[in-house]
Amino acid sequence: MTDLAEGHRCVGRTAGGLVVFVDGPAAVGDRITAKVYKIKKKYLEARMDDVLDPAPTRTDPPCRHFGVCGGCKWQHVQYEEQLRMKQKLVRDALVHIGGMEQPEVAETIASPDRFHYRNKVDFTFSNERFLLEDELDLPEDRRSKPSDFAIGFHRPRSFRKVIDIDRCHIATERMNRALDLTRDFFRSRNARAYSTRDHEGYVRNLVLREAVATGDFMVYLVVSGRNDDLLHAYRDHMLEGMGEGLTTLVAGYTKRRNLVAYAEELETLHGPGIITEKLGELVFDISPNAFFQTNSRQALRMYQAVQTCAGLTGRENVLDLYCGTGTIGLFLAGHALAVTGFEWEESAVANARQNAERNRIANACFHHGDLKNLAALWEQHGNGRAVDVVITDPPRAGMHADTVASLREMKPKRIVYVSCNPANLARDTAALCANGLYRIGPVQPMDLFPHTYHVESVATLDRA
Ligand SMILES: C[S@@+](CC[C@H](N)C(=O)[O-])C[C@H]1O[C@@H](n2cnc3c(N)ncnc32)[C@H](O)[C@@H]1O
Repeated sequence: MTDLAEGHRCVGRTAGGLVVFVDGPAAVGDRITAKVYKIKKKYLEARMDDVLDPAPTRTDPPCRHFGVCGGCKWQHVQYEEQLRMKQKLVRDALVHIGGMEQPEVAETIASPDRFHYRNKVDFTFSNERFLLEDELDLPEDRRSKPSDFAIGFHRPRSFRKVIDIDRCHIATERMNRALDLTRDFFRSRNARAYSTRDHEGYVRNLVLREAVATGDFMVYLVVSGRNDDLLHAYRDHMLEGMGEGLTTLVAGYTKRRNLVAYAEELETLHGPGIITEKLGELVFDISPNAFFQTNSRQALRMYQAVQTCAGLTGRENVLDLYCGTGTIGLFLAGHALAVTGFEWEESAVANARQNAERNRIANACFHHGDLKNLAALWEQHGNGRAVDVVITDPPRAGMHADTVASLREMKPKRIVYVSCNPANLARDTAALCANGLYRIGPVQPMDLFPHTYHVESVATLDRA
């Protein structure tokens, strides 16, 4: 294997010199065998079979579910090599998609925690269990059946089959304990998991959230409707098993016909119904459905990097685009004249306003709106002010072309682009820099998701 390809694939050449894209846990530097499943004019697509000669950067993945579960595709690669691969992904995107000749891309900043770093994990219940190879080897009376109860993660590309996860290495120890207790409870009661096949069944999702700074821990159980006796027994079982390690337990009721871990109606069965996290000086109350960066300690470092890049003096009007629950804007507010955030999720805007109030920040306001209409939004809420610094943190799809055009019209002195997708970072920064309007400085990749191919980057663009 000679290089990384898009997603989590590797690319290499066959003995005869043909280019081949390989799915599966290959590593750059491996010599492998693979089964070809698609023949194109200029290349082949194949699925990895065996490693003949392993790359020196390989390591043993600690997870029993590696290669089956879609979560951590890079666990077989040493962490330092993962960081280099992420730096390369960003650089390659800026060169090949952004058309930049020699972009400056710093070394990826490592996550402070390589395992157990997630502050939120969503598990799904199912009565369609994905059978692991080692389970198939067991004697028949101890072997699981496809119709067995499972709680864990979906098998990639399968909407219904769930891998029964006994231990997730990127979840915390307490999350794994809560997962075990939950499985024991519902399995012993022969609970029926909700299925999108017939829209029958009761238990849907288990969402676990843990605050690093305060130690708060939430169990959020999403079910199809009320069942007070069962849920009160579940609460007692969890409290008995976790004691003070469980600070709140919330039940969520929904009739949605999908398996998204979200419920419209919430009932708190224990504790305050929220957890509280601290990032630097700021305090955030996180409710069951709220978005929050999933690696708290690295998120703090990323916000610090954004603050450094923004270079605020206290005199600037700052825009926080795609602000979510306002974390970046609130983080910067103490260093700016005023911060205005825009976001299209109304509940996130409500959370951002609550967060401003909770932290007694008076110079940050948040508005609801589609950033495709940035010019109109600023016209409505900007009171004729000029914008000095823009922070933009779009979703994976990047910014809409109209948003980019509006930013070019507004001409702020500096734009700090926070990206979770190198390809769209490259596309958008190239458009912002067109005709020499902006110059891009060094790009800083940050690892918020060890063992996955996801990489966040912070880029600074200055008006030329
Ligand atoms: C990557 S998240 C940013 C979260 C936030 N900056 C933070 O650090 O917590 C992207 C956000 O953009 C919002 N969003 C996506 N498309 C949007 C649009 N067209 N207009 C406004 N907000 C949008 C999403 O709802 C989401 O909250």
